[in-house]
Amino acid sequence: MKKRLLFLGPPGAGKGTQAKRICEKYSLSHLSTGDLLRAEVVAKTDLGNKAAVLMANGELVTDDLVLSIVETKLKAISSGWLLDGFPRTVGQAEALERILVEIDQLIEAVVLLELNDDLLIERLLLRGRDDDNQEVITNRLDVYRVKTEPLIDYFRSKGLIHSIQADGSVEEITQLIESVLKCV
Ligand code: AP5
Ligand code: MG
Repeated sequence: MKKRLLFLGPPGAGKGTQAKRICEKYSLSHLSTGDLLRAEVVAKTDLGNKAAVLMANGELVTDDLVLSIVETKLKAISSGWLLDGFPRTVGQAEALERILVEIDQLIEAVVLLELNDDLLIERLLLRGRDDDNQEVITNRLDVYRVKTEPLIDYFRSKGLIHSIQADGSVEEITQLIESVLKCV
């Protein structure tokens, strides 16, 4: 089983849901930049205050702010990890690779969760997080296409991408992910 993983995919594809299950089962550290940023917003730190408006509008938080959190966390993990919602730009991916060189680690697999827009929107509206309203969801999807989707080719060219159709039940998708991760 691979232990240094990225979960990539549009908002609502199930990255967080699946990451939690895989991390519990295989004792990996779950690093979700969305969760970490929301905690900074709640705590009203400088970083959280800078991130809040961007997140509320479905825009990406700047690379330097996100990297300042991820770098510290990643360097503190001694076992395996699963990065959820990071990297989100080619700049973040390149910075991640520089950090990994420093700590002598490699990304072993990138799981791409794919789902059509209608289902993504339906799931997000049902969840109802602060940024889950029609207008902000539309922007998050646009931002994903422009800034994050280029990472698919970026990681595919490194032979790391494993695509999964994420429209089954939570349990079915976990099983698909596990079978992919056991084979790579
Ligand atoms: P983030 O928190 O990462 O949100 P997101 O990418 O928009 O994705 P979601 O968390 O909404 O979806 P998910 O794929 O995790 O799906 P989930 O499992 O929750 O980012 C939020 C914001 O933070 C960004 O907009 C940005 O501002 C900022 N940010 C974060 N990271 C950043 C970065 N690296 N750089 C810059 N800015 C960053 O599932 C969704 C719903 O569907 C849930 O209700 C779930 O229960 C349900 N569900 C899941 N699976 C299934 C299933 N199989 N069947 C039915 N329902 C399901
Ligand atoms: Mg999430």
